[in-house]
Amino acid sequence: MKNKKKRIKIAIDSPAAAGAGTLAKSISKHYNLLYLDTGKIYRMIAFIKINQKQNFNTHFLKKKIKNLEFKSLQNKKLLSDEVGTEASLIAKDKNIRKFVYDFQINCAYRPPKKYKGSCLDGRDITYKIIPDADFKFFVTANLKIRAKRRFQELKKLKKKISYKAVLKSIKIRDKNDYNRRISPLKKTKDSILINTSNLSKRACFLKLKKIIDKKIYK
Ligand code: C5P
Repeated sequence: MKNKKKRIKIAIDSPAAAGAGTLAKSISKHYNLLYLDTGKIYRMIAFIKINQKQNFNTHFLKKKIKNLEFKSLQNKKLLSDEVGTEASLIAKDKNIRKFVYDFQINCAYRPPKKYKGSCLDGRDITYKIIPDADFKFFVTANLKIRAKRRFQELKKLKKKISYKAVLKSIKIRDKNDYNRRISPLKKTKDSILINTSNLSKRACFLKLKKIIDKKIYK
């Protein structure tokens, strides 16, 4: 990059449980980037739909997202399988995507000064939210490995769910996310494919770091 002081933007898209979140977090920490897991916003909306039906209306959601704090996205309740499945259903809604858009754009293009840039992961980040990202990655892994990883995560969180049920819901989520009309999950031509199936977390991190350093320090 000609201007080494330029802030960097990293866009990552991936199907559920492919390891994109862990990877994005470690990369963001290393390069001091603001990290936003955009799936958490859809999960938060899904959580409202499941638990506070009376609040599930346009006005409430708009206000909630306008005043959204990163802290509220850390809520462990957002991690359940039920919330994930509902998130992939409400994420098909054009209006809901519109509400979430501005928040994502702000994080991507106007991160607080203390950061050297931003890193967002989700389903439509590489082509809709940050089409001009400096780095674009499509992170994936084979279905059974993703289901196994998600199952272990949920077990750690003491959620009562079987591996079979996790596998089934990831399959449904893939179908929803890849085939929907609005903002489907896809690998853009200019995204680098990262298959994490047989890679450790550290190996994934080093793979991305190598790609990023090469461009930053050239
Ligand atoms: O990434 P995560 O699995 O937490 O996302 C939950 C759901 O939110 C996804 O299955 C997807 O349908 C939706 N989502 C989306 N666009 C994004 C991020 C997530 O539609 N940028």
